[in-house]
Amino acid sequence: MNNRFSALQNFSFDDELFDSQDGAPAAAHPAQAAEPSEKPAPAPKPLPDAAALSTGNEGNGNQKKILEAKSKLHRKMLDEFNLAALEQLPRDQLIAEIRKFVSDYASEQRLAFNNNELDEFVGTVVDELTGLGPLEPMMRNPDISDILINGPDNCYAEIKGVLQRVHIPFQDEAHLLRIINKIVAAVGRRIDESNPMCDARMSDGSRFNAAIRPIAIDGPLVSIRKFSKNKLSLGKLVEFNALTRPMAEVLQHAVHSRMTTIISGGTGTGKTTMLNALSAFISEKERIITIEDAAELALHIPHVGRMETRPANNEGSGEIKQRDLVKNALRMRPDRVILGEVRGEEAFDMLQAMNTGHEGSMATIHSNTPRDAISRLEQMLGMTGMPMTVHSIRSQISSAINLIVQLTRLSDGQRKITSIAEVTGMEGDVIQMQEIFKFCRTGLTDEGKIVGHFEATGVRPRFLEHLIAMGIELPGEFFEPGHRL
Ligand SMILES: Nc1ncnc2c1ncn2[C@@H]1O[C@H](COP(=O)(O)OP(=O)(O)OP(=O)(O)O)[C@@H](O)[C@H]1O
Ligand SMILES: [Mg+2]
Repeated sequence: MNNRFSALQNFSFDDELFDSQDGAPAAAHPAQAAEPSEKPAPAPKPLPDAAALSTGNEGNGNQKKILEAKSKLHRKMLDEFNLAALEQLPRDQLIAEIRKFVSDYASEQRLAFNNNELDEFVGTVVDELTGLGPLEPMMRNPDISDILINGPDNCYAEIKGVLQRVHIPFQDEAHLLRIINKIVAAVGRRIDESNPMCDARMSDGSRFNAAIRPIAIDGPLVSIRKFSKNKLSLGKLVEFNALTRPMAEVLQHAVHSRMTTIISGGTGTGKTTMLNALSAFISEKERIITIEDAAELALHIPHVGRMETRPANNEGSGEIKQRDLVKNALRMRPDRVILGEVRGEEAFDMLQAMNTGHEGSMATIHSNTPRDAISRLEQMLGMTGMPMTVHSIRSQISSAINLIVQLTRLSDGQRKITSIAEVTGMEGDVIQMQEIFKFCRTGLTDEGKIVGHFEATGVRPRFLEHLIAMGIELPGEFFEPGHRL
């Protein structure tokens, strides 16, 4: 059995080694030996396994035995393989060698692997060696949008829009840390005790955040927000009842005719998705510059320049903030600037841009109502330290922004536009706003699903005049009081 792979070093089946954790030799003292064997946390029964999720296979009687064998074999392989040499092998050859090795091991250990199980096992070993281990099948599964890890034994995933607890077969904390390091190293960053947080964009575009000990008390905290290749269009959002067709039509024309729009909502309410969907109505003749912390936007227009902020390096220098990028963007002759999320002092430069020939610019903001979005912008302008009166701050805001689209994630998980409001100007020191459409909640089904409808408030938006001047006429009934949309 030894040295059967050209790329392996002194590999042998030594059952003693299988009983130890982390590849350390088995402890001689019985008491010491007993301790680590308690450590491997068996899969909590009711939790779906991450690998099973990707195959739709929820497991069977043989599953437990296979899982145990996998974990033993994994550990030994990781400890004894010459990983650097293995990585040089073409993937096909690697798979072939591992497959042969695993089937020999299975027959030697009298494990009844069928072909599917063998394929799955070889897949997990290859994932471990060349990819992100147990995260790999989850990254491939299009039904999973978020992966949230609170230590190796407490993991959650958002599957088809529902957040649920899952079992991800990490062997232990060290295994999870190895995978974090792999992800972080792949994007040229570092995470360790003196620098225990890392925010990065993975090579596939997914957003990755990790915090490790000492700031993460119960072991590594990892959040992966997967990059979705299938961006939802406005039409799809209508199908999902996030808004209705008349509302979509109004938004479509508003964006096309360069109404400056802010998309407001809490975490994960669908702000970026909405921004993406609305951007489809920007004219192809315009030049767009996008600015984000971690590039997520996938605008469906050709003339786009994308920029991303950069964090400080390990010596604490070299940071490039959103504000620097907004300032630079204005020198790049954009027709519109799109900010993934406005959070701080860049709000000042963004509003300046919106007020000076870059109408139709868009941004998202973290807030719970349109009025709240305005107050947050006021606070952000206050943060710049410019000597501005409240009146001048507010007039900047009111003259820059036309529309606020409010998104809410309802308690049953549905994501909806709960309000579309128009900013109409100032009266005294107060910014005037009028709601055009709103979502009215009317009840709850037995299954706990919220029931409601969208309706017009009866206010005719002022920007209709602007649309009419551009030859676009929307049906008057859209805006009749109480009109169900
Ligand atoms: N109306 C919708 N119906 C169903 N799923 C949606 C809807 N809108 C967005 N989603 C999904 O919800 C998830 C979160 O969306 P998105 O990233 O746009 O939210 P966000 O508000 O930008 O989040 P964050 O606060 O992290 O920036 C994505 O997986 C997206 O595909
Ligand atoms: Mg977002």
